[in-house]
Amino acid sequence: MSNFLADDQLNKQQLLALIELAIHIKKNPEDYNQVLAGKSVAMIFEKPSLRTHVSFDMGINKLGGHALYLGQQNGKLGERERVSDYAKNLSCFADAIVARVFSHDSIQGLAEHATVPVINALCDLYHPCQALADFVTLTELFANENVADLSNVKLAYVGDGNNVSNSLMIMAAILGVDFTLVTPVGYEAQADIIEKARVLTSESGAKLTITTDVNNIGPQDVIYTDTWISMGDEDESKKAKLLAHFAPYQVNHALMKNSDANIVMHCQPAHLEEEITTALFDSEMSVVFQQAENRMWAQNAVLVNLFTN
Ligand code: NVA
Repeated sequence: MSNFLADDQLNKQQLLALIELAIHIKKNPEDYNQVLAGKSVAMIFEKPSLRTHVSFDMGINKLGGHALYLGQQNGKLGERERVSDYAKNLSCFADAIVARVFSHDSIQGLAEHATVPVINALCDLYHPCQALADFVTLTELFANENVADLSNVKLAYVGDGNNVSNSLMIMAAILGVDFTLVTPVGYEAQADIIEKARVLTSESGAKLTITTDVNNIGPQDVIYTDTWISMGDEDESKKAKLLAHFAPYQVNHALMKNSDANIVMHCQPAHLEEEITTALFDSEMSVVFQQAENRMWAQNAVLVNLFTN
């Protein structure tokens, strides 16, 4: 692996190895505390962040490295300076680049022109670090940690078809996890991403169900949701209509009961009483903070892989 840009760049064996490495680092952090000794990672953020910023910064510190945060004062990538110049300049100083950007094209441009590894920390199409952390969490919950076999797990995502659902759908397809995507009409995943997932499921044997009918969600083990309005898509004038359109897709105790699921996941930040009720978010069924912690261990597995292979 020379970059970590999108979920479909890895095969099942590589993904399982990363999941197992993340769990190993989580249990034995001291074994990895020199992997990034003397190395610096530049972190570009075009959008706000809590978990991604903190988990990369502190995770890099746990690996013995140094993280530099480059916030929005530098403006949109490609406006003040070309993406290619950003990549080439940062490559002069940094040993890796972590980037949260508006457009997947920016991630690809950074990777094309940087001479150091680039990690996608969220773009419009994917959130691969989140999905990797989520499959680490599912492995802890459902699998023998030494053999990250999740082929018996049924995972449903209910809400906006977005970067988080794309990454989950693709990784589930690679790993052989049955995945149901439930979105309102008009908010489905992009056709090419669905097609990509279909091809991958035909290889892994997983079942992929795409529906707009939340009442037809079927039996599930885990329900996942994310904000109905992603960063960059905010439009106050359309918000009331959008909330009404999404209301039947709220993840709440009734949906958990109808689907037989007893675990709920959310990448956060949560918009309580919109996509998820406060009562469910705060309930025993919620693993949202386990997911948050695993961001750091999953990302550290990616960094260890990039710097030791
Ligand atoms: N879909 C959300 C994820 C936030 C972590 C967004 O892009 O804003």
